[in-house]
Amino acid sequence: MGLTGLFLVSFLLVHVSGNTLLFKDDGGVAFNSYTRFMTTNSVIRVMEWVLFAGFLLHIAYAAMLTRQNNKARPIKYAYKKGAAKSSSWFSRNMGITGSIVLVFLVMHLVMFWGKYKFGDATHQVTIEQAYTEAWKVKETKMGPGGQVLIESGTYVDYEKYSLLKEQGLADQKVAAISMTEVVKESFSNIFIVIFYVLAMGLLAFHLSHGFQSAFRTLGLVHKKYTPLIQSLGYLVAVVIPLLFALMPVYYFFVH
Ligand code: HEM
Repeated sequence: MGLTGLFLVSFLLVHVSGNTLLFKDDGGVAFNSYTRFMTTNSVIRVMEWVLFAGFLLHIAYAAMLTRQNNKARPIKYAYKKGAAKSSSWFSRNMGITGSIVLVFLVMHLVMFWGKYKFGDATHQVTIEQAYTEAWKVKETKMGPGGQVLIESGTYVDYEKYSLLKEQGLADQKVAAISMTEVVKESFSNIFIVIFYVLAMGLLAFHLSHGFQSAFRTLGLVHKKYTPLIQSLGYLVAVVIPLLFALMPVYYFFVH
């Protein structure tokens, strides 16, 4: 549980760092280029499966632990109503915050990853624009002689662009999609923005308990390092969700 959790935190660090490109005021070119890299690089494609396995294992271990805990203690600890408890609500309810984060994740993947991969084009752009701004082409474009210029689901790379420019075809329009446009469209909806901000609040609590507890589970506790791990845990639990939460808010108000 601890190892898979820390692995997922490392994913979140990469994900939030890459997504900060959304704050760059360049018409989405940097973020589109980053998406193109992430969706075409073969090492990243393999890591996607590892990530998927990481999520599945994390959820499976969580379910197993909950079952074991319930079996070991079918009758809950007695405590006086109103008395101070030795643990916070969030640390006792990792299953609840984790499940809501999971619901968030499924909706998030449908909204972004699914729409980008399987959804329709959002715009008609020239082949030149598709190349310079890293749009993904969503139609198989035929040339004047009936030849295939670009296949649906691919990007216009430098070689293809140079060839088409030489043939005077770079100003042809194609149906395409841009990740920045997908993000922009989703975050123009106030309900989605509120949902994201609330989900990031819960993610913060999930991380704040999970991070420190992972080190304890792995036996990596030492008096000397406890304050460092605690500070690192709060940093992870505050900075990651805060940056994520700022993205929908920024897009809603600025774009
Ligand atoms: C506002 C915050 C967020 C934004 C703007 C955002 C944006 C995106 C985008 C644009 C993609 C598709 C990229 C691609 O296809 O390569 C994506 C994929 C993904 N996101 Fe997020 N994300 C956010 C928060 C989160 C959070 C909090 C989690 C986890 C709890 C998460 C987990 C994922 C996963 C697992 C994928 C699929 C990764 C892959 O295909 O490699 N995202 N996100």
